[in-house]
Amino acid sequence: MIKTVQTTPYTDQKMGTAGIRKKVTDVVRPNYIENFIQSLFDAIGGVKGQTFVIGGDGRFYNDIAIQKIIKIAAANGMKKLIIGQNGYMSTPASSNVLLKNHADGGLVLSASHNPGGEKGDFGIKYATKSGGQCSSQISDAIYAKSKEISSFKIEDAPDVNLKNIGMQKLGNMEIEIIDPIVDYVEMMQNIFDFEAIKKLFKSGFTMCFDAMNAVTGPYAIRIFEEILGAPKGSVKNFTPKPDFGGLHPDPNLIYAKELVDLMYSDHAPDFGAANDGDGDRNMILGRKFFVTPSDNLALLTDNYKLIPAYKNGIHGVAKSAATSTAVCRVAKALNVDCYEVPTGWKYFCNLMDSKRITFCGEESFGAGSSHIREKDGIWAVLFWLNILAVTGKTVEEVVRDFWKKYGRSYYLRFDFEGIDTTVADKLMADLETKLPTLKGKDFDGYKVSEAGAFIYHDPVDGSSTKNGLIAWFENGARIVYRLSGTGTNGATLRVYLEVFEKSNFDAEPKKMLERLAEVAFEIAEVKARTGKAKADVIT
Ligand code: G1P
Ligand code: ZN
Repeated sequence: MIKTVQTTPYTDQKMGTAGIRKKVTDVVRPNYIENFIQSLFDAIGGVKGQTFVIGGDGRFYNDIAIQKIIKIAAANGMKKLIIGQNGYMSTPASSNVLLKNHADGGLVLSASHNPGGEKGDFGIKYATKSGGQCSSQISDAIYAKSKEISSFKIEDAPDVNLKNIGMQKLGNMEIEIIDPIVDYVEMMQNIFDFEAIKKLFKSGFTMCFDAMNAVTGPYAIRIFEEILGAPKGSVKNFTPKPDFGGLHPDPNLIYAKELVDLMYSDHAPDFGAANDGDGDRNMILGRKFFVTPSDNLALLTDNYKLIPAYKNGIHGVAKSAATSTAVCRVAKALNVDCYEVPTGWKYFCNLMDSKRITFCGEESFGAGSSHIREKDGIWAVLFWLNILAVTGKTVEEVVRDFWKKYGRSYYLRFDFEGIDTTVADKLMADLETKLPTLKGKDFDGYKVSEAGAFIYHDPVDGSSTKNGLIAWFENGARIVYRLSGTGTNGATLRVYLEVFEKSNFDAEPKKMLERLAEVAFEIAEVKARTGKAKADVIT
């Protein structure tokens, strides 16, 4: 039985860098999910006769929200939902299932790498039939609908059982519960040299994969331990938990502490990796060695010929503007195009659809390729295992060879969190006016060559997007400033710093970037405006 329920609008259902992301305490308000989903369906012209893919990272409220979505979809005439078993599906697996089934859309219930649990965050990412997250034009249309919604439709029925794989029905809507890992494994087997990796593990190679109590645990057990033969116990924290067992599932040197401590100890395995809450981010480590995400993208690109799926050639590459310029040097050497886009994976999708790029990535521990339309954490790990298996080198040797060939970009990101949004907006607006006036100014050897807003012109759909501000220096150094679009607590100012070195490869990044950091904070008047003398997080 279909019910029409009267509701009143919320004013905060605006998507950020990657979908809508809120505190759980906000999302549990009456009809919050219902309003958002009905607004989404209305904004895209209804979902009658359509097929959607649905899954989530298993965080708190995943189970409740998914039941609401199923019932609203049925009431709105959806033809079919393809749902991950127990309501779980990693973001990359979801993009794969969507593309493979030619579905019309997909919803991933996740706040990515943000903490979970009752006091954590919740979110929803919406993908269109291209397999990638919707454009800002679509998210603006959803936001507009959400501000005027007055009712939603919902099937009045008991909860659907998401445990058993197979078909069932709710009203006229078909529901197929799938094991998304099966399709994902098949895709990975078609990309990488699994036989070479199996031999590597047979030879005694060791690894530790930290799933951070999030969605990739079962994928990692199946792929690394069961199929590729990594020793049992190689995958840690593999049971998805609603609060991620208290972990902050962001795979970086700060939050993946257990893995980092192991990799810097004397009994470190040969290789270490972690993924985030929904499985699209990756961190790569060797013995006492960390691979920065910007280098990671560049280095994977440089080694593309070792991977069966790419060995016949790649299109171009792309990076977010905030990501270091390392991949641009590789693209130049390979004689392929290098695009620079705003932060957020959705900006890569047109470039992939139009075959302009094969690889893309961001400094925020994201890398991927045109096999799907999301970044892919396990893909990056398999890429590394494939490189190590074929070359017989260690992680550190691969990176050092790369630096020898291309030079090294020292790179760090400084985050100033929990700033009052009015203060942050004013800081950015004033900085945008100030930057162009600094051209030619010398800050102790850092002479500004170009400075201003970063504006991206999409070569495919002709749209323009402003995202952050950049200052270039004559010695190749760069500062990028932008405000986060994924936070749920005031504003976060991100300051990204890069200096380039042709031969000095063994310095501490913090030391190398010390002066540039002072220059960056001075230019933006960070302390005077925010009261913060230093960054809250440096990655
Ligand atoms: C952050 C990252 C960005 C990434 C996004 C989603 O967005 O910086 O690279 O695409 O999370 O994972 P931000 O908070 O900076 O807007
Ligand atoms: Zn994520």
